[in-house]
Amino acid sequence: MKDLNKKLYTDELLNDWVTREEIIPAETYFIKKYLTQKTGKVIEAGTGGGRIAFCIGQMGFNQIDAFDYVPQMIESANKNLKDKNLNIKFIVADATNLSDFGSDTYDYLIYLQQVLCFIEDEQLFYKALNEAYRIAKKDSITLFSFLDYHSRTINIPLRILLNILRWLRNEPIPDNYLPWLKINNRFNRKLLSKNQALTYWVKRDEIIMQLEKIGFEVLEVKNASQINTDAKQRKGMLYVVCTK
Ligand SMILES: C[S@@+](CC[C@H](N)C(=O)[O-])C[C@H]1O[C@@H](n2cnc3c(N)ncnc32)[C@H](O)[C@@H]1O
Repeated sequence: MKDLNKKLYTDELLNDWVTREEIIPAETYFIKKYLTQKTGKVIEAGTGGGRIAFCIGQMGFNQIDAFDYVPQMIESANKNLKDKNLNIKFIVADATNLSDFGSDTYDYLIYLQQVLCFIEDEQLFYKALNEAYRIAKKDSITLFSFLDYHSRTINIPLRILLNILRWLRNEPIPDNYLPWLKINNRFNRKLLSKNQALTYWVKRDEIIMQLEKIGFEVLEVKNASQINTDAKQRKGMLYVVCTK
């Protein structure tokens, strides 16, 4: 596995994600709607600086595990936790291998902010979905958000251009893997270069089919723009709520 996204999160995006605090409307919508039993055990994948875990802790949940594969994110999350009277355990772990976490353990699984779309290998992406299913209890709720393949208009010409370049370079990369358009709010000048960190854009029907194949029951699917009508910038997000 290339791990270029992990490098990006470590070297360039760390500060941005460990200092964020605001919860966006779509997150509020799904968390408030589905996290209803405060005695439930929660896990958050790709927690960054702990922004979403803190929000859930402040709602009254007191059994929260939160993990990230970047050790510096976990270090900062622990620092951010210091003044807060919350019971959150921050752990270094990779969503593609949750062997340190028991099967049938969690009532609520939070996979928001497209965390699984930074996995640069399709097989590992599906392994991560299987891992989420394994650690989920029966009747649990899993909140996923993914990058929505059919949402961003610019993806269409970008995909065509990349397909040509990849063909010329003999790079067998599927066209739902796209480079980052912006990094730290600045245009990615290396957009068309080789060896890019790539993000995985899911097709709605395919992801539903894959989740059902794993064993999840899909309860709700919404693009961010269906929740927050002025969420133009965020309409790339596809939210999928599942139970086991
Ligand atoms: C977009 S940031 C979101 C951070 C945090 N959830 C938030 O919303 O504030 C994605 C986070 O997922 C982490 N991440 C990406 N892929 C991961 C993986 N395979 N396993 C664990 N963490 C991962 C990154 O290090 C980063 O902190």
